[in-house]
Amino acid sequence: MELLDSAVERGRSGSQSPAADWQGADAACAGLATPLAVLDLRALSFNAGSLLRRAAGKPVRVASKSIRSKEVLRAVLNQPGFAGILGFTLPEALWLASDPSGIFTDIVVAYPTADEHAMRALATDPAACSRITLMVDSTEQLEWMSAVLASVAQVAPIRLCLDLDSSWRPSVRGRTVGHIGVYRSPVHTGADAVALALAVSGWKNGAGQLFTLVGIMAYEAQVAGLQDSPHTANKVTDLAKSVVLQQMQRASMAEITHRRADVVAAVRNIADLEFVNGGGTGSLELTTTDPSVTELAAGSGLFGPTLFDGYSRFTPAHAVGFAVPVVRRPAPGIVTVMGGGWIASGPAGADRSPVPVHPAGLSLIGTEGAGEVQSPLRGTVADQLCIGDKVWFRHAKSGEICEHVDALEVLDGGLRVGRALTYRGEGKAFA
Ligand SMILES: Cc1ncc(COP(=O)(O)O)c(C=O)c1O
Repeated sequence: MELLDSAVERGRSGSQSPAADWQGADAACAGLATPLAVLDLRALSFNAGSLLRRAAGKPVRVASKSIRSKEVLRAVLNQPGFAGILGFTLPEALWLASDPSGIFTDIVVAYPTADEHAMRALATDPAACSRITLMVDSTEQLEWMSAVLASVAQVAPIRLCLDLDSSWRPSVRGRTVGHIGVYRSPVHTGADAVALALAVSGWKNGAGQLFTLVGIMAYEAQVAGLQDSPHTANKVTDLAKSVVLQQMQRASMAEITHRRADVVAAVRNIADLEFVNGGGTGSLELTTTDPSVTELAAGSGLFGPTLFDGYSRFTPAHAVGFAVPVVRRPAPGIVTVMGGGWIASGPAGADRSPVPVHPAGLSLIGTEGAGEVQSPLRGTVADQLCIGDKVWFRHAKSGEICEHVDALEVLDGGLRVGRALTYRGEGKAFA
């Protein structure tokens, strides 16, 4: 099945994103058992093109946590402009690296590992050693790795990538007055990075070099993962928020661009870096202008979940949704659907709930929300729905939807053209 089509070109040309066709999805999935999730090929293709246009020539490494379907990852990697996987766990990386397609030859695991079993499997597999890069941000992790590796016959140095903290720490008269961004790596300055790079290159055992430093990753979450143009019911607050957020993001990008260049230049004196990775779906057009960045990362922009509706710089098509059936009618104007509580990770709040999108006019009920086994929905259209009718939702985040279904029903032009297995459908749960 060709998962990407000519709509990639429309995405590349910057044309308006195609409108979602939930009614068409409902017709195409008539008779299928629920719950189910769909992936619309035209929307996916448009989104792939849009990411490439925004990346402006720099290769895009695909964030697999935001996809969680091997078949979709393969299709995206087959498209020129995408290169490599930004994985989320070492067991996932080992599984991808051994895929018979041979397409997953470059996997950077974006988050540190503490999996001894997987670490030993990596160190004793020459192909995996050449294909997988692990993330580090401290000598404590190097110590942990070398202790684990002491018990195996390591076949090659472990490829490492240094995670540079890209949070913004604004200062007033030389004093840091805040931390804007996520808490990940403690490596913030050029001196921190050089010290770690020296530790990596000097780390040896009786058999020789244990590690080789091949990359730097610097992900500016406060820009890439924070919507700068929120749309809520309160337009005044939205406007005020977006003015503040856009100012913060401008200042933060200026700071990280400067600091990243210094860090990369300093570390290049110690290690032959193959790549410097930065950005995410939300920041591609900004991160790509940083000359020290050689490649970008993105995943969520392919599926276009609700947490990516509020960016001023781009509008992804809604490529993925899920359906659950009406099972009861507790009162006039209310229907209850089975399940539906596919809540996204992150700070708990209304924006993590799935959003009912079809039939139009339904909303979750504040006192219950999207429930573990059932979700009541309010709206005048409720009275027209029958037991067994599907209600369609969009998920707040991208790859997490794949933890709820074995496959994505693949739609093309209103027709169901196949199924793409999810990680779960292949019996895999990595996080
Ligand atoms: C290290 C890293 N890079 C890039 C991304 C961007 O992924 P996405 O494009 O799915 O937002 C993330 C998301 O959390 C990340 O953790």
